Amino acid sequence: MSANGNAIVTGAASGIGAATARELAARGYRVALLDRNGKGAKAVTAALPPVDAGAHFAFEVDVADEPTLVETFAMAVAYLGTLDALVTSAGVADMTPFMELDAATFRQVYDDNVVGTFLCLREAGRHMPRGGRICTVASVAGLRGGGLSGTAAYAASKGAVLALTKSAARALAERGISVNTIAPGATLTPMIEEAWRNEAHRKRVEAMSVMNRTGAPDEIARAIAFLVSPDASYITGATLVADGGLVMY
Ligand SMILES: NC(=O)c1ccc[n+]([C@@H]2O[C@H](COP(=O)([O-])OP(=O)(O)OC[C@H]3O[C@@H](n4cnc5c(N)ncnc54)[C@H](O)[C@@H]3O)[C@@H](O)[C@H]2O)c1
Repeated sequence: MSANGNAIVTGAASGIGAATARELAARGYRVALLDRNGKGAKAVTAALPPVDAGAHFAFEVDVADEPTLVETFAMAVAYLGTLDALVTSAGVADMTPFMELDAATFRQVYDDNVVGTFLCLREAGRHMPRGGRICTVASVAGLRGGGLSGTAAYAASKGAVLALTKSAARALAERGISVNTIAPGATLTPMIEEAWRNEAHRKRVEAMSVMNRTGAPDEIARAIAFLVSPDASYITGATLVADGGLVMY
């Protein structure tokens, strides 16, 4: 086992997930990177600092595809040997205005953001030993009801991630597993790059936080690394808001 154990990070090909994989590897974790963008996950994996316990590894998987996720999750755990930490960063944004939103889009966002997160939580429950730690990735959109870059489908899905995290914290406590969530504010990743090209929009959103700036993926990754570390030993079912003082939840 590596100095700080073994971790699975989903959505690790990009943005917050990639930054988290880097942060955990730098802290000595051996990391399995899951993403439906297999090529991107491989590229991130290749640039991770090596750890004593062996190579990091990338797995291509859609986290919302139940049979494939179950199989891939088991393969990743078998490859790692044991699973100490899980971070579920896989997710999609949606900016369809409320009155233009249809059920198919709503369901697709829910599938990726909520069902995908649920399946990973359940599989972690199956494979993690006592002492395991999980961090899901919600959003301030789930607390505020959207209104930054994402809208109804996204906000509702992230509200569901907040509730799902608490539900999992209750269910997995008897197995000795802690489950928390991070609710990032606007964080500069490919997810918001397009929206941030509109400078007036970017400035409006930034001005809503007392720090008056966009977050960096590394800042979110460090907060996640804390939540899956032994330093957070008495924390479960909690929401850590990392948003520069926007919501002050
Ligand atoms: N960037 C922000 O401002 C922000 C703010 C709050 C919350 N978040 C959340 O953080 C998480 C990461 O977002 P990001 O900004 O890094 O976005 P990103 O687009 O850079 O990365 C998301 C990654 O998830 C992967 N992914 C999406 N759906 C998947 C699926 N079904 N199966 C497997 N992989 C899948 C994508 O391929 C991509 O690599 C998301 O859950 C997002 O909602 C982001």
